[in-house]
Amino acid sequence: MNVNPGRIQLVSDDITRLAVDAIVNAANRSLLSGGGVDGAIHRAAGPELLAECRTLGGCETGQAKLTRAYRLPARYVIHTVGPIWRDGDQGEPDLLAACYRNSLRLAADLGVRTIAFPAISCGVYGYPLEDAARVAVREVGNFLAGNDRIETVYLVCFGEEVRQACQRALQGG
Ligand code: AR6
Repeated sequence: MNVNPGRIQLVSDDITRLAVDAIVNAANRSLLSGGGVDGAIHRAAGPELLAECRTLGGCETGQAKLTRAYRLPARYVIHTVGPIWRDGDQGEPDLLAACYRNSLRLAADLGVRTIAFPAISCGVYGYPLEDAARVAVREVGNFLAGNDRIETVYLVCFGEEVRQACQRALQGG
């Protein structure tokens, strides 16, 4: 895999503050506002975001759907639904990988150059951090290796534990 490591960046910030082309939301299948990063995104974007989400008819786990970003500094929000962690034998790794791939595909089709992901499934949905970080880094790396239009993918680390897991995954650990 020949991806310039600089194309995957770790950021310790609130994803709603990032002026990137697209931010990814870790949503639920209804796409109707929940807690965690989803709640933060809806609060910062304003009520128009929920109104647009209501028109989308939900989203299957592993898939991704697009909205505008309203009052956020980003241009688009890509809503994806991560798997709820059970024991790891219920297809969770493949579904989590699909979240990253499908979000990146949608972004690439829109001409997005910069995109930020939260740690999908690592909050309420209980996915073990180290495993999730490895999936994220692998999928983003594989995608970037075959796409040179997306310039930078930011992995947003909300909290020190997430940052350490992502750092280790980036170093191949
Ligand atoms: N910016 C960046 N990352 C954040 C932020 C933020 N403002 N807030 C939280 N995180 P979660 P899930 C991190 O629970 O596990 C919702 O209710 C957080 O620390 O938001 O995919 C949905 O509606 C964690 O590392 O998403 C679903 O019902 C990561 O974002 C359900 O939760 C993901 O945590 C989805 O659960």
